[in-house]
Amino acid sequence: MIVVEVCVGSSCFLRGSEGVVKAFQSLIEEKCPGQAVLKGSFCMGQCTTGVTVRIQDRYFSCVTPQDVSALFEKYILPNVR
Ligand code: FES
Repeated sequence: MIVVEVCVGSSCFLRGSEGVVKAFQSLIEEKCPGQAVLKGSFCMGQCTTGVTVRIQDRYFSCVTPQDVSALFEKYILPNVR
């Protein structure tokens, strides 16, 4: 099971983490339901470069909803097939 955590701390929330969550959610439901789990996370300590996302043990900064598709294709999809 791939674990995807999106920071929903106050700074990342203001930077649009809700849209990032929705984008991951719809891709997971569409392409690999039940094989990846999406979680909200408290502050990951990288507020100045939010939205912060963690996929397994890897951190990503400045993530926007537009970035989600590329992250999904590169770091999630290859690991669920
Ligand atoms: S609020 Fe997201 S890293 Fe701090």
